[in-house]
Amino acid sequence: MEGRSSVIPGLHKLPIADRLRSVAKFSDLTESEISSLGGFGSMPENVADGMIENVISVMEIPLGVATNFLINGKEYLIPMAIEEASVIAACSNAAKMSRPTGGFTAYASESIMVGQIQILGLDSLDDARIRVLQAESKIVEMANTKSRTLKEKGAGARTIEVYPFDIPEKMLVVHLIVDVSDAMGANIVNSMCEHVAPFLEEITGGRVNLRILSNLTDRRMAYASAVFRKDLVGGEEIVENIISSYNLALIDPYRAATHNKGIMNGIDAVLVATMNDWRAIEAGAHAFASFGGYKPLTSYSKLPNGDLSVSIAIPMAVGTVGGSTNTVPKARITRKILNVMDAREFASVLASVGLAQNFAAVRALSAEGIQSGHMKLHARNIAISSGATASEMERVVDEMLRSRDISPSSARSILDRLRKNS
Ligand code: MEV
Repeated sequence: MEGRSSVIPGLHKLPIADRLRSVAKFSDLTESEISSLGGFGSMPENVADGMIENVISVMEIPLGVATNFLINGKEYLIPMAIEEASVIAACSNAAKMSRPTGGFTAYASESIMVGQIQILGLDSLDDARIRVLQAESKIVEMANTKSRTLKEKGAGARTIEVYPFDIPEKMLVVHLIVDVSDAMGANIVNSMCEHVAPFLEEITGGRVNLRILSNLTDRRMAYASAVFRKDLVGGEEIVENIISSYNLALIDPYRAATHNKGIMNGIDAVLVATMNDWRAIEAGAHAFASFGGYKPLTSYSKLPNGDLSVSIAIPMAVGTVGGSTNTVPKARITRKILNVMDAREFASVLASVGLAQNFAAVRALSAEGIQSGHMKLHARNIAISSGATASEMERVVDEMLRSRDISPSSARSILDRLRKNS
């Protein structure tokens, strides 16, 4: 590796195959490794190449569907793309357990996003604030020139808010409040912020620095709730254990982080399957969870009849128009499977999935634990990668679990023995 440089001038201008050759040379890739990277599956090469920079391939991730979802009386199959075993099974199982009590009830608020414009170099924050507030209707009008589509839908920039700060340095932060309708909204909000910035400099005499949306979308929330019958949950003791597990998440950020990770297992998998910006949703979820100290995004309570009531409130800035969601062929298909009409329905489904995923994890942890299921799937994966055929699978998995040695060498020696004896 010595003497190699990662500075590859013009890499971005090369055709994909030549780019791959450059990388292969740097990284000593074999011909078979190069050809493994060469397939683009259903994604046209030009689409991938247009989406990000320095493309050399696409990364596959298993796509499955979670079943049993009944949300606001509508049936859904939920496409989920994820590398982690058990997530889809757990999610489907939780959704099934919610059905006898009517499934999930969900709601998503209007699609209100906040854009931030930071103004520095001001003599008086008070004067600048007044000038900005006096110009509110002009600022909103200017912002709305950036999107005819939103205007036609009766959406678009609505109002502004102004926040002065003295510490750690003097600045005025203008929030542009925008209804982005069925878009995720990052592009339009950012364009609006950039567009009004010079006018804000002109009226305040200051200098604009940041002009960007906020991912803390606490005015674009999704809510879901469900009731799980105590007999289906596993009885009174398990309901009590679940409440105690939740109580730990309430008082302890070490547990709250893991609790919320379980929620995001489900939500992220749907976002990946539909090619949405899951980092934005993650950022919003964790920022919202940290209001007043980091807390779980779901809440649990025992009903007077002993059943378990579970709900979630989570920021959910997702779109059904624009972005990669419509350019990537498979994302169009997964959206068809999901069958949501607009961004608010999509957000409601995502909140329900997060709730189901979290309930499934917390229930398993409060009952039998999650490792037994995980170890079985892990053993299956090892058996497959060690060359077990469908007819050999069960024996290999069982023997590995029984011997508590789940490893490729164990799988290979079991296979050798099976094949010798057959
Ligand atoms: C694992 O991916 C997610 C869990 O750790 C979530 C939880 O602990 O609630 C099982």
